Amino acid sequence: MITGGAGFIGSHVVRLFVNKYPQYHILNVDKLTYAGNLANLKDIEDKPNYTFVKADICDFDRMVDLMKKENVTGIIHLAAESHVDRSIRDPFTFARTNVMGTLSLLQAAKLCWDERPDGYEGCRFYHISTDEVYGALELNHPEGIPAPYSTTASSGEHHAVYGDDFFLEDTRYNPHSPYSASKASSDHFVRAFHDTYGLPTIVTNCSNNYGPYQFPEKLIPLFINNIRKRKPLPVYGKGDNVRDWLYVEDHARAIDIIFHKGEVARTYNIGGFNEWKNIDIIKVLINTVDRLLGRAEGEDLDLITYVTDRAGHDKRYAIDSRRLKDELGWEPSLQFEEGIEKTVRWYLDNETWLENVTSGDYLKYYDEMYRGR
Ligand code: NAD
Ligand code: DAU
Repeated sequence: MITGGAGFIGSHVVRLFVNKYPQYHILNVDKLTYAGNLANLKDIEDKPNYTFVKADICDFDRMVDLMKKENVTGIIHLAAESHVDRSIRDPFTFARTNVMGTLSLLQAAKLCWDERPDGYEGCRFYHISTDEVYGALELNHPEGIPAPYSTTASSGEHHAVYGDDFFLEDTRYNPHSPYSASKASSDHFVRAFHDTYGLPTIVTNCSNNYGPYQFPEKLIPLFINNIRKRKPLPVYGKGDNVRDWLYVEDHARAIDIIFHKGEVARTYNIGGFNEWKNIDIIKVLINTVDRLLGRAEGEDLDLITYVTDRAGHDKRYAIDSRRLKDELGWEPSLQFEEGIEKTVRWYLDNETWLENVTSGDYLKYYDEMYRGR
């Protein structure tokens, strides 16, 4: 069972598992909120080892029924409300889905797996979380210093870090936004189910993902779309906040490795030692979109519009993912420059997807398709 499989990261995980593991039956459980879009999975929807189920993870009875009926032994849980700005406006929805929804899944898994003759043997509850639970790091090298470790993602021209510290697996939780508070709470529940009941759980905390099928409310797809349409680019604050970026397929690969080889009750951080200031990424996006659309270099730099900062805006995130490299051999496969080029090309080549998502047409279509089910 993969929850949230119609969303951005979930759709990449579903695609990877359906194609790579014909022996598994992949059940994609998704409520299809504004962020869920079955067009993300068009290429695999007819595969015999794939089933989509429209359901809310908060619906405990439904989760129990599904798990029993399908004899679910492995759960990769991605369903969540994921956008920080929305959490600032509507924290209740975040608590409901991210906290209560996760609890509902945990309790359903426990109830079903308690009835198995061989107990929890062969079962696994894998919870996908975020580096935002750790809070914000100091940005004490604003000009950047050479990175202490390099990975494929961070090599190439840009190879700097903006502070001395990194998030480690034992960094104390210190969430600031309603989104990260809800994710932190869900992480605690997952670990509590291991410590109290012995449920075989794993938690991973990943940095910012980018790539195809990301909802264009997040920085990279929103800005690609706005540059394409020559709309203003709303840069929060001074644009000097730092994020650590990872290509989404590299995250999906890490999830595959950890699901199969990770140690129960262990936490793994996933990231690329690939820190960027927002404003530097924005300039790369402008140059890339302009070049690919045959516009003059830098023509759209004047779209940059500095706006009021996000409330409680975390200054810097940076992941130390050496545990995952040392213990399970995972490394990012893609350099950031390549990943951004691929990503911009994908959004420019998939205008219909972008138009449907930004106009909300895809929601009307699925509302009609699933009405009454
Ligand atoms: P997303 O918003 O693109 O997708 C979330 C999916 O969950 C959607 O398909 C939505 O319909 C579904 N969903 C929401 N509420 C639901 C509910 N109550 N029941 C069933 N389905 C529901 O999110 P994403 O960016 O793909 O993130 C996926 C997961 O990865 C989240 O748990 C997020 O916290 C985590 N994460 C994201 C990033 C990132 O950069 N995007 C980084 C680290 C961790
Ligand atoms: O770190 C992992 C997290 O990354 C995930 O857990 C979240 O689900 C995901 O949404 C992402 O959170 P961020 O808040 O970092 O991503 P977002 O794309 O919203 O913003 C990236 C940076 O860009 C952040 O510093 C805010 C800034 N920004 C964002 C938007 C949407 C702007 O300056 N302008 C904007 O319009």
